[in-house]
Amino acid sequence: MSARGYRASLLWFPDPALPVAQWEEDGLLVVAPDAQGREVVQAIGDWRTLSALNCRLPVEHLPGRIIAPGFVDMHVHFPQINVIGSPADGLLPWLENYTFPEEQRFADPAYCAEAATFFVDELLRNGVSTALAFATTHSSSVSALFAEAERRGMRLVTGLCLMDRHAPAALLNQPGVGRDAVEHSLWESEELIQQWHGKDRLGYAITPRFAPTSTDAQLQGAGELAARYPDVWIQSHVAENQDEIAWARELFPNSSSYLATYADFGLLRERAVYAHCIHFDAADRALMRSSGAAAAVCPTSNLFLASGYFDYAGADAAGFAYGLASDVGGGTSFSPFQTMLAAYYVGREGRSKAGLSLSPQHLWWQHTAGAARAMGLQGVVGNLLPGCEADFVVLQPKATPLLARKTQLANTLDELLFSLIVLGDDRLIERTVLACTVAERAGLWQAAGRF
Ligand code: GUN
Ligand code: ZN
Repeated sequence: MSARGYRASLLWFPDPALPVAQWEEDGLLVVAPDAQGREVVQAIGDWRTLSALNCRLPVEHLPGRIIAPGFVDMHVHFPQINVIGSPADGLLPWLENYTFPEEQRFADPAYCAEAATFFVDELLRNGVSTALAFATTHSSSVSALFAEAERRGMRLVTGLCLMDRHAPAALLNQPGVGRDAVEHSLWESEELIQQWHGKDRLGYAITPRFAPTSTDAQLQGAGELAARYPDVWIQSHVAENQDEIAWARELFPNSSSYLATYADFGLLRERAVYAHCIHFDAADRALMRSSGAAAAVCPTSNLFLASGYFDYAGADAAGFAYGLASDVGGGTSFSPFQTMLAAYYVGREGRSKAGLSLSPQHLWWQHTAGAARAMGLQGVVGNLLPGCEADFVVLQPKATPLLARKTQLANTLDELLFSLIVLGDDRLIERTVLACTVAERAGLWQAAGRF
C-alpha cells in the first residue's frame, strides 16, 4: 500500500514548540505507511509544488475544506458523560452528589462497554483523535475503554483510578485474594500496564484521583510503580478549588504545598499530567517546570464549577508545559471549539489582570501540537509535520449559515481561526481521519466508516 494525498486548505505548526500556525490555502497532505505499516505524514505544503513531485499520487480533492491536526484532549473523564451540566456550589459537593454516584454504575461491565462506545464516538465526532482519560476504580472500566479505542484505532491513554478513602465504599479500590485494597489496586494497575501499555496506539496512566482520596500508602505505591515504569503516564488533579486545597493541606501537613505532596510521593515527572493547576504560587510553578510535569488546562470546567482561572502569564514565565482539556463531566462540552473559546475567556479574566488576549493560533496550538508536546507526544500526534501519525480533521467552514457568512469575510488567518473557535461546534467537523495501518486500509476497516 503506497502513498495517498489530500488536497485542501491546510493548517499545521512548523515548530511544535511555538504557538504559530502555518496556513496553505491550496495545499497537499501526503501520507504513507511507515515501517510498522501505520500511516504517517510524508509531506505537507502547497499543492502545485508537491503534486508536481508526486505526479502518480492518488489524491482526494476536498474543495473548500480545511485539514488540521486531530485535537488532543489532555484530561477527560470517560465515566462522566452523564454528569455534564450537573450544577453544584463547587467541586466537592459536585463530586459527592453527582459524580461518585454515577461512577459506581461502572461496576457493571455491560454499562462500561456501552459508555465506552458512546464516549469514543463523541470524541471522534468532535475531532478529538488523542485523549488522556480517567476511568473508574473498576478495572472493567479501563479494559472497556482500551478495547473500544483499540477497535477504533484511536490513540488513547487511561488507567485504573486509585482511591482508597473519602469516597463511597462501593467506589473505593477493593481488596483482592491475599491482598489488601492498596496492594490490590497497585497489582491491578500493573496487570493493566502489562496488558495494554504500548499495545497498538494505547498507553497506560497511573491514576491517583487526587491526593485527598488516597492514603499515604497508596500514593507511595503509585510513586514506586511510576519509578518502575518510567514511560507510562501519571494523571491526577491539583489546585482546582480552595476547599480542596485546604483539605489536601490538612491531610498532608508535612508537604510544603498540595502540588509538593505529589512530588513527595514520586508522582511529579515527565509524562505526569495534572488537571487544573489554578491556585499555584511561584514555588509550585517552579516545581512544575523542574519536574517536567504538565498542566491540563480545563477552562469550561473551571468556569462551570467556579474553580478559578488558569494563570497563563505565570505558567509562561515559569516555563512549564500545558495544553487544553475538556474535563467532561466537570467540563461542559467535548468540542475543542468550546474549550478554546472558554480558554480565551480565561485568558481575558486571568490572574495576571493584564487582560491577556490569547491569539487564536495559540489557542489552537494548546489543543493540538502544544498538548501533544506537554504529554510527551511531540512528533507523534497533534501536528502534520512529516513523521507524525496521520490523524487529522476535515473542517467544513460552511457548516452553518453563520459560519459560512463569517468565515468568508476573514482577511487574515487569525480572523478565520477566531470565527471557527467562536462559532464552531461538532457540525464543523466533517470527518475525523485516524492513521490507519496497511492491514486496516486493505479492507479490515474502511476509513469513512470508522466513526
Ligand atoms: N478532583 C477529583 N476528582 C475530580 C473530578 O472527577 N473532576 C474534577 N473536575 N476534579 C476532580
Ligand atoms: Zn478531572
